Amino acid sequence: MNTLKNILVLFLIVVLASCSKNISKMDASESSMISKKVDSLMGLMTLSEKIGQMNQYNGFWDVTGPVPNEGDAANKYDHLKKGLVGSMLNVLGADEVRKVQKIAVEETRLGIPLIIGFDVIHGYKTLSPIPLAESASWDLEAIENSAKMAAEEAASAGINWTFAPMVDISRDARWGRVMEGAGEDPYLGSLIAKARVKGFQGNNLSLPYTIAACAKHFAGYGFAEAGRDYNTVDVSISTLYNTILPPFKAAVEADVKTFMNAFNILNGVPATGNRFLQRDILKGAWGFKGFVVSDWGSMGEMVTHGYAKDGEEAAKMAVNTGSDMDMESYLYVKYLEKLVNDGLVDIALIDDTVKRILTVKFELGLFDDPYKYCNSAREKEITGNKKIHEAVLDVAKKSIVLLKNENQLLPLKKEGLNIVVMGPLGNDKHSPLGSWRGEAADNSAVSLMEGLQLYTGNSITHQMGVKLTEGLPNFTTETIINTTDRTGITEAVAAAKNKDVVIMVLGEHGFQSGEGRSRTSLSLPGLQQELLEAVYKVNKNIVLVLMNGRPLAIEWADKNIPAIVEAWHLGTESGNAIAQVLYGDYNPSGKLTMTFPRNIGQVPIYYNHKNTGRPTYPGGNSVFWSHYIDESNDPLYEFGYGLSYTTFKYENLKLSTNSLTENNDIEVSFTLTNTGNFEGKEVAQLYIRDLYASLARPVKELKGFEMLSLKPNESKQVSFRIDRKMLEFYSANEKWETEPGDFKVFIGGSSKTVLEGYFECK
Ligand code: NOJ
Repeated sequence: MNTLKNILVLFLIVVLASCSKNISKMDASESSMISKKVDSLMGLMTLSEKIGQMNQYNGFWDVTGPVPNEGDAANKYDHLKKGLVGSMLNVLGADEVRKVQKIAVEETRLGIPLIIGFDVIHGYKTLSPIPLAESASWDLEAIENSAKMAAEEAASAGINWTFAPMVDISRDARWGRVMEGAGEDPYLGSLIAKARVKGFQGNNLSLPYTIAACAKHFAGYGFAEAGRDYNTVDVSISTLYNTILPPFKAAVEADVKTFMNAFNILNGVPATGNRFLQRDILKGAWGFKGFVVSDWGSMGEMVTHGYAKDGEEAAKMAVNTGSDMDMESYLYVKYLEKLVNDGLVDIALIDDTVKRILTVKFELGLFDDPYKYCNSAREKEITGNKKIHEAVLDVAKKSIVLLKNENQLLPLKKEGLNIVVMGPLGNDKHSPLGSWRGEAADNSAVSLMEGLQLYTGNSITHQMGVKLTEGLPNFTTETIINTTDRTGITEAVAAAKNKDVVIMVLGEHGFQSGEGRSRTSLSLPGLQQELLEAVYKVNKNIVLVLMNGRPLAIEWADKNIPAIVEAWHLGTESGNAIAQVLYGDYNPSGKLTMTFPRNIGQVPIYYNHKNTGRPTYPGGNSVFWSHYIDESNDPLYEFGYGLSYTTFKYENLKLSTNSLTENNDIEVSFTLTNTGNFEGKEVAQLYIRDLYASLARPVKELKGFEMLSLKPNESKQVSFRIDRKMLEFYSANEKWETEPGDFKVFIGGSSKTVLEGYFECK
């Protein structure tokens, strides 16, 4: 037995050693070299070893989903030693990863290294803002860099695969996972998906600080009915193609190495057993060459959905329809061998799957050095280094959105003010880390109080006011408390009198959004609204700093509070970023990527909706138009909205021609002027409306944007190019095409645009 193993290992070394360069954008010869190595290796593999590559187990130290039943979990070590595990997740730290890798490489027959996955969603130990916040920066370079830093830190701790980016479009703020995505728009979402994939994977996947990315959750997960996590998804083909799929396609174009499917059913069929999604679209039409991992236990959940009869049938359906790796359902390892032997699963499908998985392992360079991510000296050197802190602070500042600033209450003077910071989140070091916080230590964020105290010219105190949570909330526990304790409100009111400014820090705890955190209300949780109104009665000079993981309905605050700053959950450098904005050392430039409703009853509310046949008030005393009798149709803050300490003027819209043809693009130009007193950045936005088409089209669609920096009184000429490709959509003919017709073009600093033109597409 030992001699056989030695021969095999020697053979592997000779065959695989020449494959030293595994790069993301490889040339054809490199990729064919890897393909040959994969084929040779597969020639040595038994069926059960092949199936082992398709099996992923959670590590034994951290659980990010329901704990598996004891019987299944008990076999894990044994399976690892027998070569029946291809990947593990949640094994963390260079030393721990080395331990499991050692078993796979040195104790199994073929020594195939594991690919080690983890949810590096907005950082590993040093955290960037939650992804929804980052998307509000509209700064693709900063977003890419943030992913790059996350990859570097995670890779130094043994991780070589992140389950990110989440590219699910969502229009429903009740859904807790909106914090993990890039908002409601498929165009912006696609650009951000590409930036994140590029940031994680770099140009050379085999380097020890780049990791494989994973576009998830394929597909439709962001459209869960009623915003309730894991709920049913029923969408039209047009919504699927025109809204949900584009960011996934963009991820494929960016060469993303893996996909994760989803928990939900899509139009009746579980995503994990969905041939149309996985085989026809992803691996068929889009030519995706990487592999698809299931979501946690989602194969088994096909039985609960009422789609598969039992675990065996679920395994058969999943593999036949293109799910390559089983995360924590234990079904492939249990049933696949039998299914192949019974002729119910074609061995060619298994081979295709294993080839995909091994290819990514080769590209990561794991066969050259399985321990390349397991260097604890490097882990110490990289974790939390200065470069990473600078990057997360940079993107945190850029993610802040100024929602209101009456009478230029902001920025604050740096001297002579008597300030009270109020609210449960004002000196919190835990909550700003947000949900999906990787391995960040508890209480490791800079609190807003700490950030403000760096400015020593003002006097600053803190009042808690009301409680938002009990103890130190974590990833798996419920976070809503029903407090009735109002004593802090009385104290807060007393403290607010005679203060120059009250900085009221309210919102959601970092663990009140994220997976499994759907809400039926978008108000400030607990007694926070009461605190705000009580303090307002004695002091109107309030700056409201919001910390939240989803759009909130804050109509009262918008009406009454003079300054409102959307500060999300900004990660490790949170307090520093917000303080710099409040004091004007950074002029806010963020713009919302998800509509803020006035009232939860408006949800789902999004800017790129259809017109309806009755969009406006017909006059007289008629109720027969598309509206609410108790609320306006308009959002509180629209998509693309965000103020600056300065102001901008848009004027002089010109179109080079009003006729778009195959050979003649249109140049749209306009003048942007900084009309205020501060230097500032503005995201100028281009929207288009297709006035009539084979399917009714949205009233506006984002088609371009540019971030411009202008000094006071400075003007810039800005131009966008419109070509026919930009007008393509998935039409009634069930294909992507540009239909001739009439179009409107809009320009502005938000989706409530200010300039308008018209053209015809021939
Ligand atoms: C379930 C989540 O839906 C998914 O996004 C995540 O990557 C896995 N758990 C692993 O933690």
